[in-house]
Amino acid sequence: MTAAIIDGKAFAATLRARLAEVAAGFVARAGRKPGLAVVLVGEDAASSVYVGAKGKATEAAGMASFTHRLPADTAEADLLALVATLNADPAVDGILVQLPLPPQIDSNAVIAAIDPDKDVDGFHPINAGRLASGLPGFVPCTPLGCLMLLKDRHEHLAGLEAVVVGRSNIVGKPMAHLLLRESCTVTIAHSRTRDLFGAVRRADIVVAAVGVPELIRGDWIKPGATVIDVGINRIDADEGKTRLVGDVAFAEAREVAGAITPVPGGVGPMTIAVLLRNTLVAAHLHEGLVAPDGL
Ligand code: GUN
Repeated sequence: MTAAIIDGKAFAATLRARLAEVAAGFVARAGRKPGLAVVLVGEDAASSVYVGAKGKATEAAGMASFTHRLPADTAEADLLALVATLNADPAVDGILVQLPLPPQIDSNAVIAAIDPDKDVDGFHPINAGRLASGLPGFVPCTPLGCLMLLKDRHEHLAGLEAVVVGRSNIVGKPMAHLLLRESCTVTIAHSRTRDLFGAVRRADIVVAAVGVPELIRGDWIKPGATVIDVGINRIDADEGKTRLVGDVAFAEAREVAGAITPVPGGVGPMTIAVLLRNTLVAAHLHEGLVAPDGL
């Protein structure tokens, strides 16, 4: 069996086109654009690329983008002051502070300072708690994007065995809560799990988010399972070049799985699309407007 390839790039493009329509409707009703502020501290090359891409995608969807690039030696107090300004700015619906932050800044303090109703990353403890309690709130973009891909593939998730490999606050934990909310039977596996093979082997749904290149081998996968690979790892390739691989050995796994996301072009493009979606939801909330169904 050769797996169906889950085309996250195409799915994200369709979602972004729909978000642009909704954003236009919002502008007509509210008389302003939905606004997203993105804050980058320091010059990390990968983060700088992501932040640039977020700004472009925001504008392409007809939304306002406010990008703040601060020097690497920014004091925590100065970043907290910027967050307070953005919290109070009515043109800003969503605030994203790009992680990781330099060592002199306590990320948890910064995340906690963001207004939970502008926390489009879904990292604030209030939103993490809402998700864990089954209450409405902002959900982190990458796991929500993974869930959209899963729902597109499976009409019913209830009762399926799911394994989430990785327990980060950004992906693993919220992913597990989302799957639980869909009535999956969820296992969270991590670096100390004794029988990772066994946990993966019984899963109908595998979400890999550990950051270990090609850790999960093809013969671990249950035949027909759906595999969502969140990993993006750069490894050495032939002739001094590098290439991107996921946390799953793709060539092996596609021979066994029912469906699988490629790296790149799978989960990656969904993250920014969901960020725009969360910003639009925030904008409707701030204006007291009802967001269209299915957002
Ligand atoms: N760094 C890597 N991924 C993310 C993300 O989704 N949000 C933020 N704020 N920083 C990140």
